[in-house]
Amino acid sequence: MSYRESVIYQIYPRSFADSDGDGIGDLQGIIGKLDYLAELGVDILWLSPIFQSPNADNGYDIADYEAIMPEFGTMADFDALLAGAHQRGLKLILDLVVNHSSDEHRWFQESRRSKTNPYRNYYIWQSPRPDGSPPNNWQSFFSGPAWKLDEQTGEYYLHLFADKQPDLNWEHELLRQEIYQMMRFWLDKGVDGFRMDVIPFLSKEPGFPDYPEGRFGDLTIHANGPRIHEFLQEMHREVLARYTAYDGTPLITIGEGFGVSAGQANLYVGENRRELGMIYHFDHAVPREEYRFLNPAPELTLPELKAIFAGWNKALDTTDNVPDPTGPGWQNVYFGNHDNPRVLSRFGEPDGFHDESGMLLATVLLTQRGTPGIYQGDEIGMSNCPFASVSEFDDIQVKNAYRELVEKGGGSASKFLTVANRIARDHARTPMQWANVPGAGFTTGTSWLKVNPAVAQVNVVAQQQSATSVLSYYQKLLRWRKQTPAMHYGTYRDLLPDHPTLWAFERNLNGVRYVTVANFSGQASVLPPGLAGTAVLGNYNSMTSELQPWEARIMTPN
Ligand code: GLC
Repeated sequence: MSYRESVIYQIYPRSFADSDGDGIGDLQGIIGKLDYLAELGVDILWLSPIFQSPNADNGYDIADYEAIMPEFGTMADFDALLAGAHQRGLKLILDLVVNHSSDEHRWFQESRRSKTNPYRNYYIWQSPRPDGSPPNNWQSFFSGPAWKLDEQTGEYYLHLFADKQPDLNWEHELLRQEIYQMMRFWLDKGVDGFRMDVIPFLSKEPGFPDYPEGRFGDLTIHANGPRIHEFLQEMHREVLARYTAYDGTPLITIGEGFGVSAGQANLYVGENRRELGMIYHFDHAVPREEYRFLNPAPELTLPELKAIFAGWNKALDTTDNVPDPTGPGWQNVYFGNHDNPRVLSRFGEPDGFHDESGMLLATVLLTQRGTPGIYQGDEIGMSNCPFASVSEFDDIQVKNAYRELVEKGGGSASKFLTVANRIARDHARTPMQWANVPGAGFTTGTSWLKVNPAVAQVNVVAQQQSATSVLSYYQKLLRWRKQTPAMHYGTYRDLLPDHPTLWAFERNLNGVRYVTVANFSGQASVLPPGLAGTAVLGNYNSMTSELQPWEARIMTPN
């Protein structure tokens, strides 16, 4: 089954299932849940990084690309996980983090030794300006300048993320060959593809100019550098084109499209480009630059959210466009991942209509065009976790922003806490809620990040016992989607783009039509004329001419 007909499930291994009681999720823990995932009905598992790492950014700082993080297990555990997934018809993709490594990677250890070290050019080194300051005014995603002075050689190295995440130098041919070799190592083992971390960042602006006037700190500047497509086409030629998924279908490749606009997307994923299979965008992600922790962006309105989805469908799909030499492209659609707060807390109503709004979000996501990605826990309706103090957060982004904005900048600590409780990435990273027992069924020890107290009401065991739970609804929807080709290949048309609380869209595959209608509100709403039809699936039993609070239904139109 092609990835275009599949659904992805993202696992954040640190928080999924802990088999040995150390409070940290691990590979044996995931193995123990493979039956759960197969029963859920997803097709592709994406594992956030599982490699050796000092965990400055929870595994997104890799010290050895070919070794498993000891806290997660061994290579034998990995082999067993991969085999176990394939036995159940599940594909497995890894996180490819090659914009940067850890500063504890042996390449960087060598690189920083001297200006003539053979590994020097694996990273990006620049001399200070005459006054000793950094080579330019670029900012790091995790606060402060993107350059750090290394005393040993008196030069600065670039780190667009934490200073423990030095950027790799893709201009250097030998580095690129090392990366390709490492990718072959995992593909030869049989993994089915990669999710590619901040892949649009690989090619840097030559000459390292300051931010253009008026765009200081605009981190999207670092995306889409001049050689990015050359690098990805080379990667495709040298690696990706030579492999398939284990069942012979195309390899799965997903670019994390930070800084890529809808109009640029097909340059990465257009069928004729020979680069990537899918991309996922940030247009509906929660903006989280440092200053946002005191000045958060207002949440998107429903018309804004719908416009983003419609715009991306239009941009990727050339069928109703002038013929496009890139060919049509494909996207990975999602509502949540490990970099965003919980979708239920953003667009649903976990307190009043937990189950209804959880199912509504499932309905909208799983009837989209594109390959949907479910983030772990969304299938039971996990919501944001109430953090009582800044010390309860783990994420380096929160800690660094707090240091800069509050400790150094004198900003309001209570405002910061309120905002972090809305936008922080930690909300997605609290332990998976398996059962209402101490440790949430995630661990028998003390979990590395606090358990969301909502576990008392929201957990897998309780939902497995109920045919009307959010989890059961996901299972039903996933089974239905799998056997409904219009959900995979049908066109997408927004039927009510301006409606403030209804999201209604049609999928149409050669005249086979389905309409999804979803009421994003706690008030009942009249079903607009023209939207009547025969219900196929929905989150309420009796589907009347009125939409109930948070009701969602899929219909075949009359
Ligand atoms: C990506 C990851 C994020 C990480 C960053 C640096 O955005 O998804 O979790 O912090 O890259 O690797």
